[in-house]
Amino acid sequence: MAILPILRYPDARLHKTAARVTRVDEKIRKLIKDMADTMYAAPGIGLAATQVDAHLRVIVIDISETHDQLHALVNPELLEASGEADCEEGCLSVPGVYEKVRRAQHIKVRAWDAQGAGQTFEADGLLAACIQHEMDHLVGKVFVEYLSRLKQQRIIARLKKQLRQAM
Ligand code: NI
Repeated sequence: MAILPILRYPDARLHKTAARVTRVDEKIRKLIKDMADTMYAAPGIGLAATQVDAHLRVIVIDISETHDQLHALVNPELLEASGEADCEEGCLSVPGVYEKVRRAQHIKVRAWDAQGAGQTFEADGLLAACIQHEMDHLVGKVFVEYLSRLKQQRIIARLKKQLRQAM
């Protein structure tokens, strides 16, 4: 079991664009395992590789309360998106901040699983919001960037203060 350090907003590395995975090998499977361990330990319901400074298109999600419904998505692609829903979101890279974000209500996604097998599936509600949130990380976008500039500045000031107090 390996717990990886999670980058904290506004770390510039959170804005890197992740590269496509060419093959799911032992290295990628280890990354998935470590990311899942890190997410469960936090605890959180989703984590993108970007957040652990591994810039590859890999995300892990588990929205269950029992922590036994792990979804590992490699090279996720959004095939369809429809409807709108406001969901209160948080992020392990932005601790203590929860804000409503409007996203598609229903999505259709294609991705590889931890065995490298292709899968296409549909998601709604919280799972859909979570997948969209994590996919944003892979293109360097953090959820607070959907908020007003003023709110973002307040969040950055608060996180910087937390960091200073932790040192
Ligand atoms: Ni996040």
